[in-house]
Amino acid sequence: MKNKFIKNICCIGAGYVGGPTMSVIALNCPDFRVDVVDINKERIEAWNSDNLSKLPVFEPGLAEIICKCRGINLFFSNNIEECISKADIIFISVNTPTKTKGVGAGYASDLKWIESSARQIAKFSKNHTVIVEKSTLPVKTAETIKIILNSSDDNHNKCIDTDVNQTFSIVSNPEFLAEGTAINDLQNPDRVLIGGDDDESINLISDIYINWVDRDKIIKTNLWSSELSKLVANAFLAQRISSINSISALCESTGANILEVSKAIGSDTRIGNKFLNPGPGFGGSCFKKDILNLVYLCRYYGLNEVAEYWEQIVNINTWQQKRISHLVIKNLFGTLANKRLAIFGFSFKANTNDTRESPSINISKNLLQEGAKLTFYDPKVNESQILDDLDDLIDNNILVYETALKAAQGADAILILTEWNEFINLGWDHIYKVMRKPAWIFDARICLNKNKLEDIGFKVWSLGT
Ligand code: UDX
Ligand code: ADP
Repeated sequence: MKNKFIKNICCIGAGYVGGPTMSVIALNCPDFRVDVVDINKERIEAWNSDNLSKLPVFEPGLAEIICKCRGINLFFSNNIEECISKADIIFISVNTPTKTKGVGAGYASDLKWIESSARQIAKFSKNHTVIVEKSTLPVKTAETIKIILNSSDDNHNKCIDTDVNQTFSIVSNPEFLAEGTAINDLQNPDRVLIGGDDDESINLISDIYINWVDRDKIIKTNLWSSELSKLVANAFLAQRISSINSISALCESTGANILEVSKAIGSDTRIGNKFLNPGPGFGGSCFKKDILNLVYLCRYYGLNEVAEYWEQIVNINTWQQKRISHLVIKNLFGTLANKRLAIFGFSFKANTNDTRESPSINISKNLLQEGAKLTFYDPKVNESQILDDLDDLIDNNILVYETALKAAQGADAILILTEWNEFINLGWDHIYKVMRKPAWIFDARICLNKNKLEDIGFKVWSLGT
């Protein structure tokens, strides 16, 4: 039977990047068949679940797209071999966390999942395949992929045995979506970056995007510029956050107000008003990892001053989290022994269930180490994830609740660590009544009305004020 789709796209990795990105491609390109494959069976089952609240990624607008496209031109499966073999284009969207051991530990990305994807492609692909780097990667990863593809035994044997004319092109097409706004970011991107060394492959990928993105938003570069731009974009964004967070401390010391300073500087169009929200530090799977990759790359090329410059952005981030923890301890009379603290918000930002590198993790760990008992409430993060993230320190000191009120019961303090909208309109009167006095609120996201809370009777610390 003739394939009714003009192109077959396969995406390896059904995570926070692969799932939403492929859904939006399927939505905008009905003539393409999009197969998302993963080695993780439960994850694929969750993507195929009839109950859309069970999708593995919570992302506003995603469930609606899944509803429209799944089973039509969007498929989630563990059929890695089959999907690779019939694909014209393969996106690699696997995880690339920072290495925890060996050379480059703590800085370089662990490319073992990229390597195994490349080996799978070498083994199963047929004819000409364009491979697209979607994961956040260190510069020169394309080189690694090329070496694996061109030297793999499987590939070599297959060419000899079956005379399959197997060829590859590699293109870098970094993802700029932010979690929580992924669908909107994918539907209306500021730009789409495509880097490669042959025009034909670049144009093939560009042809996907022109189905819904203006041509002038598609930037074509060489492979290395594209890979490096991804790291640099994230480093610049994170730099703004560390800059404003460093000034939040100075505001607290001088009587200036960080929101006023942020507004004042952000109104200068040369500076711009985005990414100037002070908070407990940046989290998420990309910023820290990408900066550390950049630092590693600079050191590798002997650019130590440049490495130190960028590393300082991560250092300020860690410092901000320590600073907030110390401040809580100081205000609670210097000790947390036998005190109960309620953490409101565990995801690394609002509108996502992702907790990777969430500031809540470090701050909770700091407080647990001081002997605090912690209760948690997050509208989207489930109990097992929280316990998993704090596993080495649980020791019966952690309770996760399904409502804010329950988590606040008997607590000495509440820490607002994620800016969930629903926190603004919680029944704060009621919450005050169930807490131990003096009842503190530490608002690290500056999302609550300090005066109103003080009128209720709370003692309030608001970051940068
Ligand atoms: C980021 C980039 O924005 C995206 O382009 C890239 O593809 C992946 O990394 P993401 O990590 O999903 O996206 O979220 P983002 O909105 O950038 O927020 C990252 C962290 O910075 C969050 O913890 C957020 O709370 C924090 N942040 C963001 C601030 O503290 N202040 C701000 O003004 C903005
Ligand atoms: P990201 O935020 O980059 O999308 P995730 O961890 O959410 O990262 O998703 C990456 C996915 O890639 C995981 O579901 C993981 O199981 C999958 N994966 C990793 N290696 C492979 C592989 N070789 N083949 C198929 N899937 C893989």
